[in-house]
Amino acid sequence: MTTTTTGTRAVNGSVGTAHTRVEGRDKVTGAARYAAEIPFDELAHGWLVVSTITRGRIRSLETAPVLEMPGVLTVLHHQNASRVDADYIGMLGTPDPTAAVFQHDRVPHMGWPVALVVAETPEQAREAAEALVVRYEDEPHDVAFSGERPDAYAAEGHMPAVTEKGDLDSELAASAVVVDAEYTTPEEHHSPMEPHAATARWDGGRLEVLDSNQGTTWVQGELAKMFSLDPGSVRVRSEHVGGGFGSKGLRAHQVAAVMAATALQRPVRVVLTRRQMFSLTGYRSPTTQRIRLGADADGRLRALEHRSLSLTSTVHEFVEPSAGVARVMYDADAHHTANRLVRLDVPTPTWMRAPGEAPGSFALEAALDELAEKCGIDPIELRTRNKPERGPVSGLPFSSHNLLACFQEGARRFGWTDRDPRPGLRRDGRWLLGTGTAAASFGAGAMPSTAVATAEADGTFTVRIAAADIGTGARTALTLVAADALEVTPDRVHVRIGDSDFGPAMIAGGSMGTRSWAWAVTAAAAELRERLTLGTSIPPEGITVRSDTSAAIGALAQKERHSFGAQFAEVAVDVTTGEVRVRRMLGIFAAGRIVNPLTARSQFVGGMTWGISMALHEEAVRDQASGGHYGADLAGYHVAAHADVPQIEADWVDDPDPDDPVGIKGIGEVGIVGAAAAIANAVWHATGVRHRHLPIRPDRVL
Ligand code: MOS
Repeated sequence: MTTTTTGTRAVNGSVGTAHTRVEGRDKVTGAARYAAEIPFDELAHGWLVVSTITRGRIRSLETAPVLEMPGVLTVLHHQNASRVDADYIGMLGTPDPTAAVFQHDRVPHMGWPVALVVAETPEQAREAAEALVVRYEDEPHDVAFSGERPDAYAAEGHMPAVTEKGDLDSELAASAVVVDAEYTTPEEHHSPMEPHAATARWDGGRLEVLDSNQGTTWVQGELAKMFSLDPGSVRVRSEHVGGGFGSKGLRAHQVAAVMAATALQRPVRVVLTRRQMFSLTGYRSPTTQRIRLGADADGRLRALEHRSLSLTSTVHEFVEPSAGVARVMYDADAHHTANRLVRLDVPTPTWMRAPGEAPGSFALEAALDELAEKCGIDPIELRTRNKPERGPVSGLPFSSHNLLACFQEGARRFGWTDRDPRPGLRRDGRWLLGTGTAAASFGAGAMPSTAVATAEADGTFTVRIAAADIGTGARTALTLVAADALEVTPDRVHVRIGDSDFGPAMIAGGSMGTRSWAWAVTAAAAELRERLTLGTSIPPEGITVRSDTSAAIGALAQKERHSFGAQFAEVAVDVTTGEVRVRRMLGIFAAGRIVNPLTARSQFVGGMTWGISMALHEEAVRDQASGGHYGADLAGYHVAAHADVPQIEADWVDDPDPDDPVGIKGIGEVGIVGAAAAIANAVWHATGVRHRHLPIRPDRVL
């Protein structure tokens, strides 16, 4: 693998050099403790009881027999649980009562929490929870998602619902070539390896929650608001996290654990089962997307329309903003996009890795491939001709735009130039072979964070920041960043993360975690280094500097800020079984300065693996009659396993962010974007048939 990184900002070269995870040994030896593994005296265990109906009311709960069962301490439910502020402010500023459990008798979806049984052991809690009789008033429900819904409405989420420029109909009419197609993606679940788990306890007047989450200060703030506590009296810790992908924010189990710990005045732990995660931790909404493209014969776009429909619950409005990707990638004389929503009796969806971009890029990049075919133009050449000069909707300049460099490097390494564009021609025994490509992009932002850097008397340095390492290698990346800012070797730097007492910081989300934290760490460490060069002797308590990047990030000029990438896939399609196998993938990314090539490569490969999973496997199927899932577990919901994943190569081009102190853009999500489209485009190239509905299952191929 050739790795190009910028050397211009490096002070001692730790950033840009491969480094194994600083906590790797602890993780593989079991010394690293995850949220459900930390022991406490007097620990009690809570087990959630969830609804077996999809819509209605709780009529009664027969708690008396359960309270007689061995070890049972209490049963919390809507009649005895403490009242909370259910309008607490969600992450994006809109009140989100999804996690406000046991506040009313309404059941808004299958698997809604109706009680928490607390006992001395998890086994006792589980047995009692399963014995609890709950009676319901069942009401008719509606979980039918389709593009035909008359009750769909334009919905904002965190971006405008609708953007419109130019006259779509007349530009389509004037176009030499038109693509008009509907694409669908299914309901998808995060499925982190470590289930959600929290332990809550009162410790000398402070509430402490040991949790598995993507941001301790986020969960701290939400809990403080919800329980009307001073934020300073709430501490959330989350040292190691076994995956999150967007699902690990404030959820029912932390709230239930706090309620029980308060009622019992004992530490209480609540761990979700894999099945409960399917209804309680969010998911990606299914989407139905219509794309209309109109182009001149040379492929230049005159018209672009991207309309996406997703679903949300009756509890909270969450939008999967799939049309957003069209607002960045391609311009046209008439450019229309819309994110629409329908409210159903289902759990509330949430962000899932590359929210919007992942399903949106499947539709848009597959449609581009259809346009390339119709125009008789190479798919990479089509994208080259349509590279926008400015943000197509914002009109803002790009901070940097290195998509074409990714395609050039990728085409060379993948062997794209020799490709015969005609479909259905290549055979290897019973396999039809094909190759496909697609573009990727993801927003490159930063959010204010605080960090604390201390020069210790023993010559080492401690950096404290409420960052989260959800498996990405963030702790290691921050160690390298701090080492460079301090002009020392990484072995002298100890980075401590995952503790809300370290002060406000960005969450591990939006591909903005490492960048936002690195900015704050650099600011604190650089100031500390300056103080130390004055020759100060270090007192026993060390010398400490605190940073806050709010002002610096607030002053950033308005620009379109994105990572880009080019995805390539080769597939084989079994003509007798319809099975699709990905034979190889290559992703080349322009995603800012790469801090740690070792873990960065893993992140890109992980995203691309998710793309395989999205293209071919993942699909949560909801039963219309019951309103619940078929197979809500990792047997019924297949995530790409080793046998599904071929050789994947990921690499990058030089692309330092011009406005970031370290040059970082963020790499968390761009790896999945476009990956499913590249595979679907390769399936077309192999077979001559367009597959517009994910996953591309054997029964759909045949
Ligand atoms: Mo990620 S979906 O921004 O946690």
